[in-house]
Amino acid sequence: MSTDKVSVHGSWASRWVFILAATGSAVGLGSIWKFPYMVGVYGGGAFVLMFLACIALIGVPVMLAETLIGRRARQSPANALKVLALEAGHSGKWSWGAFAGMVTALLILSFYSVVGGWSLDYIIDMGRGDFQGVTPDQVGAYFGNVIADPWRLTLWHTIFMLLSAVVIAKGVVAGLERSLRIMMPLLFVMILVLLGYSMTTGHFMEGVHFMFDFHPEKVLDGLLPAMGHAFFSLSVGVGSIMIYGAYMPKNSSISGTIVGVALLDTFVSLVAGLALFPIVFAAGLNPSEGPGLMFVSLPFAFGNVAFGQLMGVVFFVLVAIAAWSSAISLLEPMVAYLVERTKVSRAWVTFWLAFTCWFVGLGTVFSFNIWKEAKFFVNEGGLFHLYQWGAAGGLDFFGVIDFFTSRIMLPLGGLCFVVFAGWVMGREAVRDELSIRSPVLFALSLFLMRYVAPIGILVVFAAQLWK
Ligand code: PHE
Repeated sequence: MSTDKVSVHGSWASRWVFILAATGSAVGLGSIWKFPYMVGVYGGGAFVLMFLACIALIGVPVMLAETLIGRRARQSPANALKVLALEAGHSGKWSWGAFAGMVTALLILSFYSVVGGWSLDYIIDMGRGDFQGVTPDQVGAYFGNVIADPWRLTLWHTIFMLLSAVVIAKGVVAGLERSLRIMMPLLFVMILVLLGYSMTTGHFMEGVHFMFDFHPEKVLDGLLPAMGHAFFSLSVGVGSIMIYGAYMPKNSSISGTIVGVALLDTFVSLVAGLALFPIVFAAGLNPSEGPGLMFVSLPFAFGNVAFGQLMGVVFFVLVAIAAWSSAISLLEPMVAYLVERTKVSRAWVTFWLAFTCWFVGLGTVFSFNIWKEAKFFVNEGGLFHLYQWGAAGGLDFFGVIDFFTSRIMLPLGGLCFVVFAGWVMGREAVRDELSIRSPVLFALSLFLMRYVAPIGILVVFAAQLWK
């Protein structure tokens, strides 16, 4: 069996660059923006614990599966599954699962770019001193004004998408390393500084209790969202880590690397939460505020401390860079696929895909203003409407895309990849690619991919249906 394939898209200079790129993909708006607001919406500790359990038992095995599939095949996700399935004597239709994943990544990018745009907008606002000495009410109103303006959101969404597309068009392997080498460590430092600040607010323990007190009655409500977010946060289930695995040099240990990336990502999420909630409580804001949570609480903090203006600018620059390095990994799988399958140049493929995502993203832009009242999947006292203008419940366009991707497609994509690595590729291929020396660790990795992760995913889905 051939194990010496070469990627046409280039490969990382070393294992360290893979770690940098994979961490760049994983750490992003998911950890800094989405995790805290979901903790707030789903009521704190129970969600956090479910999230941690899902990372360890489901997310890490899926990440392992993706990396080893990618590195063995050295191609885009859909082609990787096809080639490896055929090599192992199975149906090439496995590639459909990966194809669905790559489409899911594009759907995620459509809204990711809009929120990435908010961080760009806030760099300017911070720098201009808009938040100096603000009150909590004023920051809330400020954010409300920002998202009420479709032109403003579209402008920043466009800029964010362009910035991501430029790197992809040049080739990820060339573009990412230089920017991430300095920026990622800086982001860690900045989040720790924020944590230090939140310890001085006098509400730190309130934040700790909110994040870690366990309320069993909230477990079922937060279970599927926690699993979906574990996938989102680790960038797994859509082929992003798989494509980065495809550029990973041979002879570097996969398991240790993966666990390291997962730990870093989880660490950033937890610290971001611990930094944010004390500020939220100190300002008397509502933790279940939703997508605006970070954009309301942090400017309030930066607006009211010494050197806050400068620190705020630095912080939002770093958030934008973290978001940008994740956005790149959302676009890369489909770009790599089309480059492999067509004769069209990387630059053109990138341009058209980015344009499509941008266009779909306008739906998310409008969800916060002109389409605010457009609600889908409305359940009105037992009566179900697919669509209703002005309904009280239901999901807006952004909500639909978020729900469909995070709660349904990411877990299904993850299921496809672990089952593929655990059952389809063949034990020897997995052993060869993982090259773990210890038989016990190998058996554990295989056990996690074969049983724990797939069963875990199915159990969470079942629990949601029977709830
Ligand atoms: N993990 C990224 C974040 O947390 C988002 C992402 C999801 C990136 C899926 C790639 C694939 O911000």
